[in-house]
Amino acid sequence: MRDLPAGTVTFVFTDIEGSTRLLDELGAEEYGRALADHRALVRQIFSELEGHEVDTQGDAFFFAFATATAALEAAGRVQDALSNGPIRIRIGIHTGSPRRTEEGYVGRDVHRAARIAASGHGGQTLVSASTAALASGVELTALGEHRLKDLSAAERIYQLGKREFPPLKTLFQTNLPVPTTPFLGREAELADVTSQLSRDDVRLLTLTGPGGTGKTRLALQAVALSADAYPDGVWWVPLAPLRDPELVLATAAQALGAQQSISDHIRDRRMLILLDNFEHVVDAAPEVSVLLGACPNLNVLVTSRERLRLEPEHEYEVPPLSRAEGIEFFAAKARSIKPDFEANGVVPEICSRLDDLPLALELAAARVKVLSPEQILERLEQRLPLLTGGPRDLPERQQTLRATIDWSYDLLTDEDQSVFRRLAVFAGGCTLAAADAIAGASIDSLQSLLDKSLLRYTTERYWMLESLRVYAAEQLDLSGEADAVRRRHADFFSNLIQGAGLTLEPEGAQEYALIRSEVDNVRTALDWLADSDPEAALGQTAALDGFWAVYDPREGMRRLEALLERHPDAPADIRAQAYRALGSSANPAGDDALAERCYEKSLDAYREAEDERGVAAMLLRLGMSAFYRGDQERARDLGEKSLALSREVGYGAAESQALGLLGELEYTRGQVEAGAALIEQSADLAGEVGFPWWRSRMLRKLADCQLELGRPDRAEVAVREALQLMAQIGDRQMIVFTLARLARIASESGRAEEAGLVWGAIEAEEERAPMGAWAKERARLAAPVLALSGPEFERGLREGKLLSLDEAIDHALAERS
Ligand SMILES: Nc1ncnc2c1ncn2[C@@H]1O[C@H](COP(=O)(O)OP(=O)(O)OP(=O)(O)O)[C@@H](O)[C@H]1O
Ligand SMILES: [Mg+2]
Repeated sequence: MRDLPAGTVTFVFTDIEGSTRLLDELGAEEYGRALADHRALVRQIFSELEGHEVDTQGDAFFFAFATATAALEAAGRVQDALSNGPIRIRIGIHTGSPRRTEEGYVGRDVHRAARIAASGHGGQTLVSASTAALASGVELTALGEHRLKDLSAAERIYQLGKREFPPLKTLFQTNLPVPTTPFLGREAELADVTSQLSRDDVRLLTLTGPGGTGKTRLALQAVALSADAYPDGVWWVPLAPLRDPELVLATAAQALGAQQSISDHIRDRRMLILLDNFEHVVDAAPEVSVLLGACPNLNVLVTSRERLRLEPEHEYEVPPLSRAEGIEFFAAKARSIKPDFEANGVVPEICSRLDDLPLALELAAARVKVLSPEQILERLEQRLPLLTGGPRDLPERQQTLRATIDWSYDLLTDEDQSVFRRLAVFAGGCTLAAADAIAGASIDSLQSLLDKSLLRYTTERYWMLESLRVYAAEQLDLSGEADAVRRRHADFFSNLIQGAGLTLEPEGAQEYALIRSEVDNVRTALDWLADSDPEAALGQTAALDGFWAVYDPREGMRRLEALLERHPDAPADIRAQAYRALGSSANPAGDDALAERCYEKSLDAYREAEDERGVAAMLLRLGMSAFYRGDQERARDLGEKSLALSREVGYGAAESQALGLLGELEYTRGQVEAGAALIEQSADLAGEVGFPWWRSRMLRKLADCQLELGRPDRAEVAVREALQLMAQIGDRQMIVFTLARLARIASESGRAEEAGLVWGAIEAEEERAPMGAWAKERARLAAPVLALSGPEFERGLREGKLLSLDEAIDHALAERS
């Protein structure tokens, strides 16, 4: 085709803003003239700079340039030339290496410029990072990282020139996953779902249909496309790994990064939440109703095999693919396995047998490496009766999927079958090590299941689509080895819990991330133990006290209270741990009185068990409780007792906490120097014994002392390390507290831009999700920072607001080091 540039090509996509509105305003005739003028102008300027017209559609142009510099120059000139007329265009520019074909270009990069343009505003020219890297001699403004609505991963976007525009229309507050395969077909369904969602009277929309119809995939895509209507974000809450309906709202809260209850977090903010795979937690449906009642601007999209049967619910039945889409779907999946696959006349028959069900097609297409389409069809025919008359109804389609999974399962070797069904014990997937230890899975078996689409692998974990996991679990129950496999699962995760060292008085490394990434498996193991080995369940749940306290104190309390109620006569050492852990969660849950009662009970039980270390730890906890209540005398008394005892028995973690408590008491009395010395000792000891959470907390306190003593340099060293430690633990609230110190230090050291940047990031984080109680502390830290002004500070603030919390941490730690 024509002499289009090859190799590295820069694409320019232009599009008129509000063309329908313009047409109304100007009338058909004048609009037609303006349109023609604009076309002539774009063509003239672009061709002067050797742009090649690839395509034109309606009011959009698509050009290719051999160099990024020419493309940028052309875009700049066009925008200038149009600035006085009635027409405003948005331009997207992106550089890539597409494949050139007879009809033009193909490849991922081709649509990118159009998607970039679509996120901008009239008069604005947006530039991708790849183009920006090649640009010279033009002024580009960084607009931060953005995710476009095709759900691809976040990328940096730049703007040509400095003019200010409203925020980009991208996914800016979201946790939607980045899909690993392209989205196919479903144009009509997408339009239906997005238009229903945009209706004022639709607040709860449920996508229903049998397993594997593509409900989740369609929902994710629709949510991304609807994002503009939700300034407070669109959020994905995968419920498939959950077993307990009580955890639905807590899981949603975690997905949103909420620190308090989800309805307090959302309030009247405008958000869309996708509750994905609701079918096995339907008992939580009434809570969704209550949530909608409490949050007037919240919309909820649900995917579920059955509807929730709620008053405000609207239902959308996701149909199978159309036949044409089914054929394309099968062919695309087959090509991803066998690149030279060509769909022949048998493929439509396969689609018909499989009711055009995406998952069924995927399982069948996965076999094209070893079976021809004819052979696939022949084998399917033995299982699936031919479709007679109209489309099958829902229960029949469910049978289709089942029969297809049966078919795929029966074709597996005995070994692969056994691995497949054993993998059903996992919730939320597993690592290779867990698959090996629990399911006896060899790499070959895992690869074989991946090849057959019976298993997925993303972010270093193996996992199953829910329909497949349910099937595998049934097979596991039939196999007679379910109990043995579940016992191995519980043992494995019990070991993980012990190895993570997350009690609040640890000895050795603390690995929060280890439990965080396995939380669904940990829950599953604890649930299984609760029925089969309650004492172990109590011990393991208590061993996670530091985890519950940071991650979800209410879940920790619920589990511990239930276990303690059922086993009041558990051995003293286990009871002591359980009450200690219950107290650890009661504090952050806001019930300090309950916490103090628990520490008393734990103290008694430790005495009964003659565990001096436990006694030392509980004396300290009781001392802290007194300190929080304002009873300084009792706090000091208990702190000193705990210090003496923990030194006597050589218990470093408790000793370090006791020193810290005594230090804070000095500080509160106005003895800053003496307080700082004790706090520093405490931090040092916490470092020695491997107690990062406490060390981080002490370093933060130490920084406050140093600031008060006029030593910002020493304060800064402490805060940086505190931030590093908290970032590893992932305690969002503590991270923000620590960043706020850093902003204050930067401001006091005259680094206005850095102070602005860090504070901007804090404000952005607060907007994403309100913080727990820190109003007083915030005001104290904010005052010196916000007193700064001037262009440097403002620039920092603007930049900081574009950062995610992780990016802010990286910036803060990289700065000056
Ligand atoms: N439009 C689509 N484009 C690309 N892949 C799709 C599409 N629809 C479905 N799929 C793929 O088909 C499989 C099944 O889809 P999905 O998981 O969305 O089904 P589901 O209805 O949510 O099933 P379940 O009830 O088991 O949760 C997935 O691998 C998914 O990625
Ligand atoms: Mg689903």
